[in-house]
Amino acid sequence: MDELNELIRMNNVHAAYHGDIYILNGVSLSIKRNKITGIIGPNGAGKSTVLKTLYGFLKPTQGDILFQGESIVGAQPWNMVTRGAAYVPQNRSLFNDLSVDDNLRLGCWHFRRDDLRVKQALEKTYDMFPILAEKRSDLAGSMSGGQQRFLEIGRALVLSPKLILLDEPTAMIAPKVSQELYQFIRSLPEMDVTVVLVDQNVRQCVEVSDYTYVLELGKNTIEGSREQFGDDNSMRAMIKDWLDYQID
Ligand SMILES: Nc1ncnc2c1ncn2[C@@H]1O[C@H](COP(=O)(O)OP(=O)(O)OP(=O)(O)O)[C@@H](O)[C@H]1O
Ligand SMILES: [Mg+2]
Repeated sequence: MDELNELIRMNNVHAAYHGDIYILNGVSLSIKRNKITGIIGPNGAGKSTVLKTLYGFLKPTQGDILFQGESIVGAQPWNMVTRGAAYVPQNRSLFNDLSVDDNLRLGCWHFRRDDLRVKQALEKTYDMFPILAEKRSDLAGSMSGGQQRFLEIGRALVLSPKLILLDEPTAMIAPKVSQELYQFIRSLPEMDVTVVLVDQNVRQCVEVSDYTYVLELGKNTIEGSREQFGDDNSMRAMIKDWLDYQID
């Protein structure tokens, strides 16, 4: 039963960018279908590297990654697109000198020859994010940070993915817009989208996520559900010192 609910499993994954300088030193995660899984941890812990490894930018040297029960070790990022996975990286990834509409069309690259699907994908995105419809002819780079973040997420969603990897979606975004973003992220499972959320904002991440993993020095340490990290629990006590450093 548990396996049916599991979209991705990472088993004891080790990965390095160069030679034997390992950044991931045995990461094991279970990503449940139509749930939000959070990953928190200090700077440089390897959170973004986990997402890059899941998406095929980095190949594990040890361990396994299963997507719907099938190993995807060695899969390339474009294979992940065809499998229904989308990725919004930590570093801004828009084409600033292209319009909002053209950025969204680039998200449709995989099915660019299917005019009807492109049209429907754009319409759906504009319905979801009216601000993007309003600004569809504006240059992406002319929009506010928050609007750009919505565009990046919108561009990932044109694929109608079953999985979306979000790396620090609210970093350097005004608090009010962050709340809108979190609210939107919370609504994704209702649209049949499984979410992996990497976030520096520990407090928000454990509240938004159904289940959260703490990553330290390339290894997952503490983990627990939203309830377990809840107010009166020892799990929360374990990350309390860290929470005190959070700005929100
Ligand atoms: N392309 C790369 N080549 C070599 N080393 C890298 C590369 N990207 C990241 N690293 C190193 O890997 C380690 C983990 O980086 P990563 O970006 O995964 O951490 P993070 O937990 O996402 O941190 P942050 O909270 O700052 O985003 C760091 O020591 C970083 O310097
Ligand atoms: Mg990062």
